Amino acid sequence: MRKPIIAGNWKMNNTNAGTKALITELIPLVKDVKGTEIVICVPYTNIATAAELIKGTNIKLGAENVHWAEKGAFTGEISAEMLVELGVEYVIIGHSERRQYFGETDATVNMRVKAALASGLKPIICVGETLEQREKNRVKSVLKKQVDGAFADIPEDQLANIVIAYEPVWAIGTGKTATAQDANDTIKIIRNRIAKLYNRKAANKLRIQYGGSMNAKNAHELMEMKQIDGGLIGGASLKAVDFSIVVKH
Ligand code: 13P
Repeated sequence: MRKPIIAGNWKMNNTNAGTKALITELIPLVKDVKGTEIVICVPYTNIATAAELIKGTNIKLGAENVHWAEKGAFTGEISAEMLVELGVEYVIIGHSERRQYFGETDATVNMRVKAALASGLKPIICVGETLEQREKNRVKSVLKKQVDGAFADIPEDQLANIVIAYEPVWAIGTGKTATAQDANDTIKIIRNRIAKLYNRKAANKLRIQYGGSMNAKNAHELMEMKQIDGGLIGGASLKAVDFSIVVKH
């Protein structure tokens, strides 16, 4: 019932030349994929190039962040309107790297989500615990705080435009994937929290991805799980063949 969504998060990788090479290689590899939504989230400077290349294909475009204000004196920031103008459809919000290195909080995540939705962008909201939080058995309380914060004042009718990415921080870029069962169980905790905040029907419709060292080798097993509706892919999204294997899982 929930359409799978595989999104690449390129992070701070690829120039425009690299963007052209990667997308040109990817397009034919995934052109026959129908049942899965395919998204690539690229650096701001590559958006225009990517938009041109994916025109008429089954690949959709995402950005890696968005500011909450409509416009104004925010040096170095990018607004939702600027992204929409270039054909961006999805935007990653609250990635753990932004929380860790750039002071992102649950409150700013919420502001960004609201700004994105107001402009018609679809947020991919990232949540996930650190290793320390996991070892201290705090997974449930950490996720509750992140989910409650991100979804504050978001009306139920917007849930169809939102994707959650569960990314355990300890699994990102480490080659250490959560086991499929673990990822499934934790995503269930997130879905149950959404059911508490809204209702069960809304929670059952919301798409929740797994992210963290998901790759060509483990994608199939992860995607087999009932709760896992897709993936947010870092490293493996930088190689066309690997990413296409994840997309086809
Ligand atoms: P890796 O797939 O490189 O672990 O990164 C995951 C991630 O952070 C996607 O947003």
